[in-house]
Amino acid sequence: MGDARTIGVIGAGLMGHGIALTLARTGHRVRVTDPVAEARASLADRVAASMAAMGLDEAEIAATLPRISAAETTADAVADADFVFEAAPEKMDLKQAIFAEIEAHAPEACVLASNTSVMPITQIMSGLRLKQRALGTHWWNPPHMIPLVEVVSTADTDPDVAQATFELLAQAGKTPVMVAKDVPGFIGNRLQHALWREAVSLVENGICDAAAVDTVIKASFGRRLAVLGPLENADLVGTDLTLAIHEQVLFDLEARQGPSPYLEKLVADGKLGMKSGEGFRSWTPEEADAVRARVARHLRKLDDIL
Ligand SMILES: NC(=O)c1ccc[n+]([C@@H]2O[C@H](COP(=O)([O-])OP(=O)(O)OC[C@H]3O[C@@H](n4cnc5c(N)ncnc54)[C@H](O)[C@@H]3O)[C@@H](O)[C@H]2O)c1
Repeated sequence: MGDARTIGVIGAGLMGHGIALTLARTGHRVRVTDPVAEARASLADRVAASMAAMGLDEAEIAATLPRISAAETTADAVADADFVFEAAPEKMDLKQAIFAEIEAHAPEACVLASNTSVMPITQIMSGLRLKQRALGTHWWNPPHMIPLVEVVSTADTDPDVAQATFELLAQAGKTPVMVAKDVPGFIGNRLQHALWREAVSLVENGICDAAAVDTVIKASFGRRLAVLGPLENADLVGTDLTLAIHEQVLFDLEARQGPSPYLEKLVADGKLGMKSGEGFRSWTPEEADAVRARVARHLRKLDDIL
């Protein structure tokens, strides 16, 4: 379990409560702040519900909850902290203001991490006095169930800070990966959206419908992906065969620089996906719930297998 550390979490939403849960579960003291009183008041219940959804027993939930407290202010959440994880809304000026406040109240040795999905860490941290202790930690949703955390260094990040963060996350049961450069999408979202770009393009070009794209992935290489990464797979089939396939196929793949007009039109038409009842296909609320339940069941099963 390692040494118990004091950890501040900024934002008690979807990501913040799961980050707090993960770290408290492995023995750390976690203080979570959120300007919304309801978010603070409901924090313990939401942590307990997420732990129950993970299949954890009452005893573990009861042991974890006392290690998490809700703080009214950022200053209270970060005083004496060894690490701070920011999981506030995805707005650059808000995150910059939050980090200025964190820097004003956290100890000088405290590591400062942002959970932004897409914004440059370098820009978020640009106003800090001690930029060497700042970095990105990109947790995935749900953060208490998806193992990966990308540890993103900027040109200013001290390698010892990245290493200490990596070790904290590994000891907390996560699967951290170092990202050496602060590039858009880090590693995971670059890979994921390279696939999504081609998926949209196949539909846009009339090659198949959206259901076929999803079926092809779920019924073929999607089955292997959790246990066989693409570069392991390339080595498995041979780099020579991989080269031969690339010589045939790569020139024909979607290479558009920006988003697809097909996707832009869906959004312009209010077809926003499950939340509006239609996106690439139509969804009843029951069908949307069934997808969410299926994903949660699958993630729990993978935990048992891997
Ligand atoms: N949801 C995802 O799938 C996902 C995945 C990876 C990363 N992220 C990133 O994590 C961050 C948080 O996302 P989320 O999905 O948890 O959002 P969320 O809306 O569920 O939670 C954000 C919380 O921050 C609070 N907040 C607002 N202003 C604040 C402030 N000044 N100080 C502290 N808290 C404040 C809000 O009240 C809210 O409770 C974003 O940067 C997002 O891009 C989200």
